Amino acid sequence: MRDILPTPPPLHQNEHAEVRELFRRFVVPSYGRFELVFSHGAGSYVWDVSGRRYLDLGGGIAVCALGHAHPEITEALVEQSRRLVHVSNLYFHGPQGRLAERLVKGIGPGKVFFANSGAEANEGLFKLARRFGHDEGRYEILTAINSFHGRTLGGIAATGQSKIKKGFEPIIPGFRHVPFNDLDAAREAISPATAAILIEGIQGEGGITPASAEYLLGLRRLCDERRLLLFVDAVQCGHFRSGRFQSFQRILEGLPGAEAFLPDGLSMAKSLGGGFPMGAFWVRSEAHGVPLADLFGPGTHGTTFGGTPLGCAVALRILDVIEREGLERHVRETGDWLKAQLESLASEFPAVVRGARGMGFMLGLELKPREEIPAFARDERPASTQMVCRLHEAGVLTIPSGGQIVRLLPPLNLSRRQAEEGLAILRTVLQSSAA
Ligand SMILES: Cc1ncc(COP(=O)(O)O)c(C=O)c1O
Repeated sequence: MRDILPTPPPLHQNEHAEVRELFRRFVVPSYGRFELVFSHGAGSYVWDVSGRRYLDLGGGIAVCALGHAHPEITEALVEQSRRLVHVSNLYFHGPQGRLAERLVKGIGPGKVFFANSGAEANEGLFKLARRFGHDEGRYEILTAINSFHGRTLGGIAATGQSKIKKGFEPIIPGFRHVPFNDLDAAREAISPATAAILIEGIQGEGGITPASAEYLLGLRRLCDERRLLLFVDAVQCGHFRSGRFQSFQRILEGLPGAEAFLPDGLSMAKSLGGGFPMGAFWVRSEAHGVPLADLFGPGTHGTTFGGTPLGCAVALRILDVIEREGLERHVRETGDWLKAQLESLASEFPAVVRGARGMGFMLGLELKPREEIPAFARDERPASTQMVCRLHEAGVLTIPSGGQIVRLLPPLNLSRRQAEEGLAILRTVLQSSAA
């Protein structure tokens, strides 16, 4: 793995207040932001405007596949931007075709549509389900409780969390939620209007919950029996984060029937562009006798910025680096090791930690509820937020998920040494939180 040397941090002590004031006055306050103002990054580290360094175990919520300021991403951006940044999707260009080929090779026979974000990729799948079921009057999509599928109107309708829908009613019709990892519940929920089932391979925002192998295989059988499409939202859990290109490949590894398992559609974003905003969905060539990958004929679906030469050149280069540096295996080995370490932290600090979850570089540390941790009890904020803030103070970035999960979604090239550094800091913070 190439070692990326951090650049010396510029010191802009006064920018902290200035930038926050600009946000207060001019940026829609839709995010609850932490009190950190960042200036630059290198590899798995980022620096704030005061020159303080943080080990980034959050990876921009699973976006920064190769960390920050990776020289090959910069090179791909510079090279491609000298040649061709954008042409309309009215025309052909090489990078989009080549990237589609690479993604299809990683998943299975099918085609790819390029979008700009995870929510937009999912919107494409919603439309695909409607198109598929249209002539039979089927339009409904079953999704899981605690799922997350984006913030568009379709995305919040699909998301199985009521807090995300609140205040935006009426919610667009055609989505119902069923308990995750419960095949019987899915079977019972199917109505004559159902066209598809959509799940995350590993629920991310819902708290790092992997689908079980039985659930995946069972859903496939159910969808085959009932002529439904099976969709996987791989926006967060895809792109090698699980230690395989797609999380279902990892979850099903070595099991009978695993090789034949394929969803009918799969959405991607986040790590696909490594920070360059990109989304995509893959669709299987054929399902239930329907040529699914060709259902969207000319004029049925589109987006101005989907699959630009610049974005695709970056995504191709990221795939090159992942392949050349053996990051799939690295994530798997380092991730398994990291999870074992988190589990031993859980047994060392049972007063604060309940356990570890996830796989590869999609891991969660499950904390006890705030009221049960004496050091957290007086603070109103959830345990996850309090822990994330304590970790900020100690120089590590992580991502809260719900009230009790602290997520680790580091760059795929986080080295073993950096993982050890992160764990040592985490241990110190747990020690002081347990006191
Ligand atoms: C599983 C999943 N789907 C969809 C989305 C939405 O992606 P985006 O924010 O790029 O629209 C997210 C974002 O966190 C996600 O985790």
